[in-house]
Amino acid sequence: MISAAENETLTRVGPGTPCGELMRRYWHPITGSSHLRSKKVVAIRLLGEDLVLYRDLRGQIGLVDHLCAHRRVDLSTGYPVENGLRCPYHGWTYNAQGRCIAQPGEPANSRLKDRVKLKSYPAQELGGLVFAYLGPEPAPLLPRWDYLVDDHLIRQAGFVVAPYNWLQGIENSYDATHAEWLHGHFFKYALDEQGDPADPRYQINVEPMMRHHEEFEYERVPYGLLRRVVLEGDQKDADTYNIGHAKMFPNITTINAGGTCISTYQVPIDDTHTLYLGHRAYRFPHWVSVPEQEEVPWFEIPTRDANGDWIRNDIVAQDIMVMTAQGPIMDRSQELLATTDIGVVKYRRLLKEQIELVRGDKDPINTYRDPAANQRLVLPHSRDFYDRGVSGKSSSYRRGSATGALGMQNSPINDLIEDLFEQAARGRPEFAK
Ligand code: FES
Ligand SMILES: [Fe+2]
Repeated sequence: MISAAENETLTRVGPGTPCGELMRRYWHPITGSSHLRSKKVVAIRLLGEDLVLYRDLRGQIGLVDHLCAHRRVDLSTGYPVENGLRCPYHGWTYNAQGRCIAQPGEPANSRLKDRVKLKSYPAQELGGLVFAYLGPEPAPLLPRWDYLVDDHLIRQAGFVVAPYNWLQGIENSYDATHAEWLHGHFFKYALDEQGDPADPRYQINVEPMMRHHEEFEYERVPYGLLRRVVLEGDQKDADTYNIGHAKMFPNITTINAGGTCISTYQVPIDDTHTLYLGHRAYRFPHWVSVPEQEEVPWFEIPTRDANGDWIRNDIVAQDIMVMTAQGPIMDRSQELLATTDIGVVKYRRLLKEQIELVRGDKDPINTYRDPAANQRLVLPHSRDFYDRGVSGKSSSYRRGSATGALGMQNSPINDLIEDLFEQAARGRPEFAK
């Protein structure tokens, strides 16, 4: 439990708020590159600020304030030109630095445009995502995590815009035991109630996910916290404990196992909305012929069925359900923390500490300024997590395991991913015997 005042400090992210200033020291993903390629101009809301992202005709991206300086038209209605974004109303044009570079209706000798500059922020693309930085200059480097930069991976990203405060999202990731209950027992309940074994979601074997968390720890590491878990029936030599899973401060968590890195970003849109972004990078053994990927898919993850009820037999929808069911901003002065909440407590401690660092105008953890140290940031990678035949442990791969029940109904490359996992399983030595 924390006080109501402390809850305000840890949850509010607008400009000038303590947590908002901390979050502004990091790059955040705001959309998918493929989405921007098809739309060209996209409305963005990040940390309570309304912005417009666009790609000009030379391929450069820009991120500027959303209102035209002239008559305050929302520039998400605009269109890209050679070197900027043009307002549809009277053609004023802005470049990526927010400078007004054209006012076609003004006299040729007018100097008015030289005085016009919109707020603008740096934006960069990596691993199929577009990232933005809203903090003080000079900006730190965009972290080059291995799953974003490595060759021969297949990537995709799904998203949900959800009505919960970002801290509820991230605290869910520091809550190890919810997995056995929400994604184990509750999941089994939902599947049994649905009772249709022909549903591809039955390919997810929920039994291993119901395994009890015998022990779990969150260890401080340079980029944040490392989660170590001993599941029922395992010892500390199991990968889940021995190698663990990385949680990168402030708002990225990974499950990196069996060749698949699932990284989840909880991006604060504003105080009461969060962009849940699930990025997946699939790495296959050398005997699999992985096609060159031209575009990283970007798609919405469904969380409700046709009746508007929660989808209960999908892991991402389950998470979105409980994070939303805590209300727009959970009142932490009324909660009752228990022994299983050790990760939540550790994360809050780290968050408070980093807010203080930024108040003292110091760089918080997990920020990078030396290009040599940011070539490729390597994360811990286990062989296995919940074995669904996906890992290298066995060749018992069941089609559907890699893509079922993981919020990927709208992914355009599910068949490709399943084909590659099947190839991987068929080529395993024990299968060849
Ligand atoms: S309102 Fe944008 S150019 Fe006039
Ligand atoms: Fe979860």
